[in-house]
Amino acid sequence: MRRLFALILIAVPLLAADRPEATIKYRQTTMRAMAAHMSLLSQVVKKQVGRRGRIGVDAEALRGLSIGLADLFPKGTGPETARTAAKPEIWQRRSDFEIAATKLQRETAYLSQLARGNDPAAFDAQFEAVNATCNSCHDQFRERD
Ligand code: HEC
Repeated sequence: MRRLFALILIAVPLLAADRPEATIKYRQTTMRAMAAHMSLLSQVVKKQVGRRGRIGVDAEALRGLSIGLADLFPKGTGPETARTAAKPEIWQRRSDFEIAATKLQRETAYLSQLARGNDPAAFDAQFEAVNATCNSCHDQFRERD
C-alpha cells in the first residue's frame, strides 16, 4: 500500500500537464529567441556587419528552435484560458497551423544547409524566405497588437 502511494506520488507530476500560463510563457520566449537570431542574421544580410562567419550558429539555432513548434500550442492554451496573442484559429484550423509550423522547420533546415555552403546570395534569398514564413503564420494565427 505504501509502495503504491509512493508510486502515485511519483507518477502524478509526470502525467500532469504544464500550467497554461507556463506553456504560453515558454512558447513566447521561444519565439523571441527565434526573433533574436533573425535579427542577428538580418544585420549580416543587410551588410551592416561583416560577420558571415557566424551565420551558421544562428541558422542552426533557428532550425533547432523550430522543431516541434506546433506542440507548444496544446489545447487549452488559447485566449479562452489566459493572456496570449495566439488566435483560436490555431485550434479550429489545426492542420493548416501544423503545415505552417512544418514549413518553418523545412525552410530553416535549408537555411542551415546554405550557411554551410559558399553561396551568400542563395543564403540571403533563403533568409528572406524564412522571414516570409514567420510573417505568413503570424498573419493567420497571431493577434495583432
Ligand atoms: C506556425 C506559426 C508560427 C510561425 C511559423 C512563427 N510564429 Fe511567431 N508566433 C506565433 C504565434 C501564434 C504567436 C503568439 C504566441 C502567444 O502569444 O502565445 C507568435 C509570437 C511571436 C512573437 C512574440 C513573442 C512574445 O513575446 O509574445 C515573436 C517575436 C515571434 N512570434 C517571432 C517569430 C519569428 C522570428 C518566426 C520565424 C523565425 C516565427 N515567429 C514563426 C506563430 C508562429
